[in-house]
Amino acid sequence: MNSKPVRLALAAMIGWGASGCCSLCSKKAEIKIMKESFGKTQDGIAVDCYTLKNHNGVEMKAINYGATIIALKVPDQNGKLDDVVLGFDKLADYETKSPYFGCIVGRYGNRIAKGHFSLNGVTYCLATNNGPNSLHGGLKGFDKVVWQAKEMQTAAGPAVVFTRVSKDGEEGYPGDLTLKLVYTLTDKNEVKIDYTATTDKDTVVNLTNHSYFNLAGQGHGDILGHEMQINASHFTPVDATLIPTGELRPVKGTPFDFTKPITIGARITQSDEQLKFGNGYDHNWALDKDGDDLCCAARVVEPQRGRVMEVLTTEPGVQFYSGNFLDGTLAGKAGKVYKFRNGFCLETQHYPDSPNHPNFPPTILRPGQTYQTTTIYRFSTK
Ligand code: BGC
Repeated sequence: MNSKPVRLALAAMIGWGASGCCSLCSKKAEIKIMKESFGKTQDGIAVDCYTLKNHNGVEMKAINYGATIIALKVPDQNGKLDDVVLGFDKLADYETKSPYFGCIVGRYGNRIAKGHFSLNGVTYCLATNNGPNSLHGGLKGFDKVVWQAKEMQTAAGPAVVFTRVSKDGEEGYPGDLTLKLVYTLTDKNEVKIDYTATTDKDTVVNLTNHSYFNLAGQGHGDILGHEMQINASHFTPVDATLIPTGELRPVKGTPFDFTKPITIGARITQSDEQLKFGNGYDHNWALDKDGDDLCCAARVVEPQRGRVMEVLTTEPGVQFYSGNFLDGTLAGKAGKVYKFRNGFCLETQHYPDSPNHPNFPPTILRPGQTYQTTTIYRFSTK
């Protein structure tokens, strides 16, 4: 039986409160998920935009090109909504010039040294698209493909589900990889991303969302005044091409110590070899956690408008990238120009180049196993 007309008639009789609550019970009315066209790719594939809203007015827009979050409006300490993620107004810009704004990167997010890894005695060769290394899944990674999408109302809030199969050999990786991503916007002002994947051959997987945040609002200058805290007493230092050396180095006494809140800008210009290699922060922090429980990875506060973002994850690491390659050449949403360090990323993940580092937590997925990770971006105010 279709219960929709009954529910609608009931709603009309008893009325819904301003908060979307039914006046007879505490159950909140569902807010419709909007789906509209976001144009066509250069290959003529239709792309849709899904708008999710919660009962606090928080709004997220995601498109099925790259499973990309293109807008995220959250309140500041005065209740004013601003869009806190960088992005573009047009699909063509995502296709041609995006430095991975808001998308999912994979099959292997972050770098693989020289584009090579070995699995079961076979060496796999990937495209090298970042100096000598392979970055974010190669030339046409998961950020540059159109996913299937479907809206879904869940107990936690409205959601959009992205699915696709990455075929055996795509970008050089072995095995058909069947992927499912669920983006849920909860009434706790959380964007929750659940990632699952299965394979029919041994492969490597490392998925993350690549949103660039500016908690003052996109286009509102640099992020150097944001206070950052990262729950990690070690990070993975890199060589000049940003490949981990394999060492897990204590952060204590270095500009990489974010165990207590400190502004991103406080030490970013210090003379430090690692900061020089990254042109700022562009490193993986090894989170202080046991196993794959969901735990707090980072907390960021923007002191002027009072927005707070907490990042929780089941992953062992987080890449904190301080937007060092933004250089003012990209005009983003509403014509805002994104200059040096105008956004930052917190990419929850396994460590970079793990397939070539047996001492790092493994990233191999085998048939019969399910890759399952969750990351939550939770917004509040001071
Ligand atoms: C990398 C940066 C890169 C950025 C955009 C980050 O994940 O660590 O080095 O510039 O993505 O591509």
